[in-house]
Amino acid sequence: MQIVLSGMRPTGKLHLGHLEGVLKSYVEMQDKYKAFYMVADWHALTTNYEKPEDVSENIKDMYKDWLSVGIDPLKATMFVQSSVKGHAELYLLLGMLTPVPWLERNPTYKEMKKELKDRDLSTYGFMGYPVLQAADILIYNADKVPIGEDQRPHLELAREIARRFNYLYGKFFKEPQEILTEMPKLPGIDGRKMSKSYNNAIFLSDPADVVTEKVRQMFTDPKKIRKNDKGHPDNCVVCAFHKVYNTASHQMIIEECKKGLRGCVDCKMELARKLNERLEPIRQKRAEIEKKPDYIMDVMNKGNKDALDAAEATMREVRKLMKLI
Ligand code: TRP
Repeated sequence: MQIVLSGMRPTGKLHLGHLEGVLKSYVEMQDKYKAFYMVADWHALTTNYEKPEDVSENIKDMYKDWLSVGIDPLKATMFVQSSVKGHAELYLLLGMLTPVPWLERNPTYKEMKKELKDRDLSTYGFMGYPVLQAADILIYNADKVPIGEDQRPHLELAREIARRFNYLYGKFFKEPQEILTEMPKLPGIDGRKMSKSYNNAIFLSDPADVVTEKVRQMFTDPKKIRKNDKGHPDNCVVCAFHKVYNTASHQMIIEECKKGLRGCVDCKMELARKLNERLEPIRQKRAEIEKKPDYIMDVMNKGNKDALDAAEATMREVRKLMKLI
């Protein structure tokens, strides 16, 4: 079986954007691959080192979100990066052979430093972000890595680092390939990209009445004021959601809206119903998990142990190849 590894930074509750993109592929892949899913808490620290208390709180929430959408601990290994110290050791060793210019030209490094103006990211740890990510992947000798478009340069770098290691010490690492997870066009309720920091997200953990209220607040076509006004569904958040959550009726909705046969209030209520139908099984699963107080810790401990065993096997070989004991 091929090996898949992916990681998410624990920066807060997961939302519908995550669900229809990366989480869906996590669930599909656990049947086809030997899957490792990692909570990247060290990576979260590279940008949030000034507020580490938030990171540790978010780890359990991430497990809860993962389990509630159907990631199965009997199929996939769910672990916390910082519990497997081999990641840090490999990160250090790969650092020996990674040229600094490779990191300086990394587009996400340049972008994030510009964007996150409120934090000082001229740190050694932040620059090394992709080296740590390469260590995460290579330590399990992963064949495939599901990622979003934005992470592509990091995977390219991981392959370059693997190649350089193999050239220097003998062929050992596979060159990991990306699986691009499709991101559905799901905007936030205000039409911008769905993001926790924009305050426009619908969370997997939102109760039904909160979801309904958020749907009520969704931006619609500003030119459609009365029920019988002709609408422009291309310009409407509610319509974008119908496309994903009400596929069968989507075309009909567009036609009715354009002809002025459909009011936004009804359209929103229909969407809220559909969305809650989608989220209900996830809520039930979450409620089951919350009833068992030790469950999350059990899953975490088991995942951490399995990841540790796999990582240690790699590290023994790496140490030998680099002439360390
Ligand atoms: N950098 C990834 C992100 O921000 C998270 C991550 C850390 C990751 N290590 C990884 C993803 C290894 C894939 C493989 O989304």
